[in-house]
Amino acid sequence: MTEQARKPFLYVVVCAAGIAADVSKLITAAQERDWEVGVIATPVAMNGFFDTAAVEALTGRPIRSAWRTPADPRPFPPPDAVVVAPATFNTVNKWAAGIADTLALGTLCEAYGLGVPISVLPCVADALAAHPAYRDSLTRLRGMGVRFGEPYTGEAEQGGGRPEFEWERALDLLAGG
Ligand SMILES: Cc1cc2nc3c(=O)[nH]c(=O)nc-3n(C[C@H](O)[C@H](O)[C@H](O)COP(=O)(O)O)c2cc1C
Repeated sequence: MTEQARKPFLYVVVCAAGIAADVSKLITAAQERDWEVGVIATPVAMNGFFDTAAVEALTGRPIRSAWRTPADPRPFPPPDAVVVAPATFNTVNKWAAGIADTLALGTLCEAYGLGVPISVLPCVADALAAHPAYRDSLTRLRGMGVRFGEPYTGEAEQGGGRPEFEWERALDLLAGG
C-alpha cells in the first residue's frame, strides 16, 4: 500500500473499567468509518477486562501496553486521532496531571502536543466523579481541547439493566459532532 493510500490511524486507549469488555463495538464501528485501529491498553485493563485475543484478531495488530525496547521498531504509525474509551477516574486524573507512568498515559500526554483530535468516553461512578480532583481534571483537559462524551457511571438502573454505553459517540466527537 502506498503512503498516499494509507487509511487514517486511530489509537484506541482502553482503561480498566468493566465496560471495556465491549470495546470491540468501538473498534468495529471505527473500521466501518474507514479508520485503521491500533489498541493501547493500560496494564490493569490487560488483566481480564476485555478479550485481548479477539481485539488483536479484529485489528490485525498486537495490543500495546508496555514501552518497546529501544531496539524495537515502532509498532504503530503515529496517530491521526486518539480515542480513550472507556476512560477511568485514575487515568483521567493522571493524564490531566501530566503523569506518564504507563504507555497509555505517555501516549495521551504526548497526543496533546501532536495536535491530533482526542475524544474521551469516561466510565466513572458518581461517588468518584464527585471528587474535586476529577472535576479539575475535566476542566484542564477540556481546556486542552479534549472532547468528552456524556458522563456514564457504569451503575445498574432501577430495573437491573445498564444504560447503553455510546461507543460511537467517541467517533462522532472526533468528527466535530
Ligand atoms: C471489575 C472492576 C470494574 C471497574 N470499573 C471501573 C470503572 O468503571 N471506572 C473506573 O474509573 N474504575 C473502575 N475500576 C477500578 C480501576 O480498574 C482501577 O482504578 C485501576 O487502577 C484503573 O487503572 P487504569 O486507569 O490504569 O486502567 C474497576 C475495577 C474493577 C476490578
